[in-house]
Amino acid sequence: MKHLLKLMDLSSEEIIDILNLADQLKYEKKHGIEHHLLKGKTLGMIFRKSSTRTRVSFEVGMFDLGGTALFLSSNDLQIGRGEPAEDTARVLSRYLDGIMIRTFEQSEVETLASMGSIPIVNGLTDYCHPCQVLADLMTIREHKGSIAGNKLCFIGDGNNMANSLIVGGIKTGMKVAVACPKDHQPDAEIMKWAKENGEFLCTDDLMEAAKDADVIYTDVWASMGQEGEAEERKKVFAKYQVNDELMSVAHKNCMVLHCLPAHRGEEITAEVFEAHADEIFDEAENRLHAQKAVLVKCMGESK
Ligand code: CP
Ligand code: NVA
Repeated sequence: MKHLLKLMDLSSEEIIDILNLADQLKYEKKHGIEHHLLKGKTLGMIFRKSSTRTRVSFEVGMFDLGGTALFLSSNDLQIGRGEPAEDTARVLSRYLDGIMIRTFEQSEVETLASMGSIPIVNGLTDYCHPCQVLADLMTIREHKGSIAGNKLCFIGDGNNMANSLIVGGIKTGMKVAVACPKDHQPDAEIMKWAKENGEFLCTDDLMEAAKDADVIYTDVWASMGQEGEAEERKKVFAKYQVNDELMSVAHKNCMVLHCLPAHRGEEITAEVFEAHADEIFDEAENRLHAQKAVLVKCMGESK
């Protein structure tokens, strides 16, 4: 695997391979078994947006793997003053062994990959969040024993999380249902692909989407970069909340996942969040293990 730009680029087998390696790395870390699979390698981490989980899990992950990570805020880089991604890619390729980038435009990630000569990992764009969904799939398998056959329901904004969950869910054999407002639907091409390749529904009827769900997933109403729309979005998304009423139509052992950060009382009630906190924080922990697997697949000697 050369890069991780979006889940659409991976086969179902490659996704399962990453999850298997992630499970192994998690086991080894828990048992104090050293795995310096990226000894001497350096990952640059470019952030144009804030982060807690992505930043810390990539940095700790590189340390665990025997390598080093550099935190590169776009505020301090020339890329933040307009130096083209094309040039940044070619310069950083001379110093680093891989780049993780969190940014706005998916095209910036794709440009780094096409112009640089080192692996590029997408740490979130407005379009998708592949690392998060690999951790989500790992968590579903851990809690449910398997992924295929489960019904995954996403409630909320049809942007980066929804797009990646649809692709990751369909590629691993889940039924996927998304409930979102008409003007906030997921990417049209992804929805078309999902209908052609699996069982997929997009509706504004929350109860229909959540009916018999095995996993319910939600995300903030206003994503990073949309802070100015937050008040307007509170009105548009008011009914798109994971609460006890919604949970009552789901499967009785339904899991609840949230990529975090969460806004209690908005997309999820405090009651539902706390009732499913073990699942949600396992999910957050699994960012570390899943991303270490991605880094090994992209930057390791034996891919
Ligand atoms: N879920 C997630 O990506 O969290 P951060 O924004 O804290 O990295
Ligand atoms: N949709 C959210 C996801 C955060 C992990 C955002 O882009 O801010």
